[in-house]
Amino acid sequence: MTTLIKNGRIITATDDYSADILIEGETIKAIGKGFQVKAEKEIDATGKLVFPGGIDPHVHLDMPFMGTYSSDNYETGTRAALFGGTTMVIDFILQKQGNSLQSALDEWRGRSDGNCVGDYSFHMAVTDFNEQTKSEIKGLIEKEGISSFKTFMAYKGALMIDDRQMVGLMQEVKKQGGLINVHATNGDMIDYLIAKHRAEGKLSPLYHYLSQPEVTEAEASGRFADLANYTGCPGYIVHLTCEGALNAVRNATRRNQKVFVETCIQYLILDASLYEKEDGAKWVMSPPLREQKDQETLWAGINQGLVQVVATDHCPFMLEQKLMGKDDFSKIPNGHPAIENRMELLYSEGVHKGKISLNKYVEVACTNPAKIFGMFPQKGTIAAGSDADIVIFDPNEQHSLSAKTHHMNVDYSGYEGWKITGKVKTVLLRGQIAIRKQRMQNPERIW
Ligand code: URP
Ligand code: ZN
Ligand code: ZN
Repeated sequence: MTTLIKNGRIITATDDYSADILIEGETIKAIGKGFQVKAEKEIDATGKLVFPGGIDPHVHLDMPFMGTYSSDNYETGTRAALFGGTTMVIDFILQKQGNSLQSALDEWRGRSDGNCVGDYSFHMAVTDFNEQTKSEIKGLIEKEGISSFKTFMAYKGALMIDDRQMVGLMQEVKKQGGLINVHATNGDMIDYLIAKHRAEGKLSPLYHYLSQPEVTEAEASGRFADLANYTGCPGYIVHLTCEGALNAVRNATRRNQKVFVETCIQYLILDASLYEKEDGAKWVMSPPLREQKDQETLWAGINQGLVQVVATDHCPFMLEQKLMGKDDFSKIPNGHPAIENRMELLYSEGVHKGKISLNKYVEVACTNPAKIFGMFPQKGTIAAGSDADIVIFDPNEQHSLSAKTHHMNVDYSGYEGWKITGKVKTVLLRGQIAIRKQRMQNPERIW
């Protein structure tokens, strides 16, 4: 199958130009003007932006968590991602403490394989580092292609590892050529504050926020950077939210250390005042939403190159699931739905409002995730030889976000009624049209 995308404005992390894209099979064959070929399909992209498919490196699909499962499974989650211009996601496997990494991989593959309609891969969360786990790291990298290992410095008693395990894991991952990523908040301090608030009868969603003050994240981010520096292990901090944590990373750069930083779309545009609303449980996620000054720090951090990635941490729960914590904030399943909204919100709030450039937009939403997680240049850019994962985007179309129209399997939107500028029109996944005019073109699970 050959496809020709004509007259689009092509945006990559570095370029901005008008040309036609010739696709043959799953990849881009050539980019230029005036091709003398009769392609089987032609798409007119006049007046549209054409950029690489988004890569969301932080999602939790069909994940067992806090006594329930996240409500998007692999099919609904990857479909919603495609509708929003994200062609590839990286999901998290969670080791069960006491069990092997391989058993977790098998369990996760049982839910994901054969069910996705977009491209996907995994990080492996190590929640119990011991001699057995240590012996599995090499094989996961070399045989399974999983080179990114997740750690939790929080969720004490469930997912958290201590510094002893962290250092051991970092040394092994460094030795085998992998990367450590981290949920960097001080789990002991958070555990103490949750217990204190509960004992005082302070049980509303606001106390979720007050149990995770900025210092819990700043301290853990600095500690993580110190341990990564000592072991020489490459480090990536997921869902960084605040000024204190970003300053800890900034300090690490002073000793010429590189720590990769991801923030998520919600931390750039929502703030903690939402926890005072009656339906504040909708925004219970960890770390919590922060303040205006943190949003400003994060936008600046993107432009300074200190924040390399904007992801979602998509972890949706139905309202009924959120109600598990109606009498106690600590029982509200933590997570926020945004897999479908990230690319449009980042364009509207970032590019359209003049906070970031178009090139920066592509860099943080598409190119850097591909580079950091070892997929570039096959993914994350528009170039001859790359996978034809392509978004055709109308930069002027205005529309509203709503749970009534989104495709995520969740019965509310954290952005209900938000008016945004810019809309995903057509999405190609490895050369095939996956979404056109807000219709799924390949509804079967074909990948
Ligand atoms: O609230 C969140 N972030 N839920 C998903 C698990 C995690 O910590 O990333
Ligand atoms: Zn986390
Ligand atoms: Zn997460």
